[in-house]
Amino acid sequence: MKLKNKVALITGGAQGLGKAIALAMANEGADIVICDINPKTLPGAQAEIEATGVRCLGVECDVSSVDSVAGLFKQTVATCGTLDILVNNAALVQSGERNEAMRSKFYKMMTTPMAKESLGVTKDFTDEEWHRYWGVNVHAVFYCTREALRIMEPKKSGKIINIASIAGIGGFSAFHPAYCATKGAVLAFTRSVAIEVAGANIFVNAIAAGGVLTPPMEAYLAAASEETRNGLHQMIPLGRLGKPQEYASLAVYLASDEHYLVGQTISPNGGMIL
Ligand SMILES: NC(=O)c1ccc[n+]([C@@H]2O[C@H](COP(=O)([O-])OP(=O)(O)OC[C@H]3O[C@@H](n4cnc5c(N)ncnc54)[C@H](O)[C@@H]3O)[C@@H](O)[C@H]2O)c1
Repeated sequence: MKLKNKVALITGGAQGLGKAIALAMANEGADIVICDINPKTLPGAQAEIEATGVRCLGVECDVSSVDSVAGLFKQTVATCGTLDILVNNAALVQSGERNEAMRSKFYKMMTTPMAKESLGVTKDFTDEEWHRYWGVNVHAVFYCTREALRIMEPKKSGKIINIASIAGIGGFSAFHPAYCATKGAVLAFTRSVAIEVAGANIFVNAIAAGGVLTPPMEAYLAAASEETRNGLHQMIPLGRLGKPQEYASLAVYLASDEHYLVGQTISPNGGMIL
């Protein structure tokens, strides 16, 4: 019970990696707040977390809206009294036909002898799409971190974990430049804030995830050809994607009092980027 008597808030906690982290923290005794923009998945996730025996508050919230985030933290404090752990997990992950075609082309080009060519996505990207990525993947991390620090700094205690991606640290990825740029920004933000608040005994670190078997990835793999799936697995030295629980256990460790990590990026990725 590493997190007993702690309150943890996980953004985008209604499915995928966020839900796995929420469940892992609940299993370590923390009371949980999950927020998500999707009202359909929230009640089911909340019930699963409550079934572990802890309290769970589910809040519908768009983390890219500063007002929505203010309401989320107000409800958290009103219901749970405080906040000890923030996991900035919600993100706009790439999906849709155009992105998936780009991704499959990238795996093919990297694993098959063939002529190289441009993946051809940036020239057609719209301002709206670009700004939406920054809103959800970066502005939201700032809004939530600011609210969390207003609670954590006075009590000189707290843990903040930012979920970034290998897309933010290396070119060995099939992701859109907007996704890569925003995840890189999360890592730079993590380092800077970590140094800023370390003196207040607040630990800020990042997980730069490699491929995780969550609903968007599962949907992509289900629709992809065998050749594409093989190409992706071929690019991972371990030969497979990560399970959400293999990332959630690291988040629990970063949320615990058992380490000396400040401003670090830890990248579980099956050996894709070293
Ligand atoms: N799955 C992967 O392969 C992978 C790889 C690297 C990094 N990541 C990162 O892991 C994190 C979780 O991704 P996932 O694979 O579990 O995705 P997911 O789509 O399964 O889960 C993301 C959750 O965030 C919610 N969300 C999206 N926009 C939101 C908003 N504006 N406000 C509140 N909630 C919002 C979604 O509704 C969803 O429930 C993300 O930060 C992602 O960038 C995932």
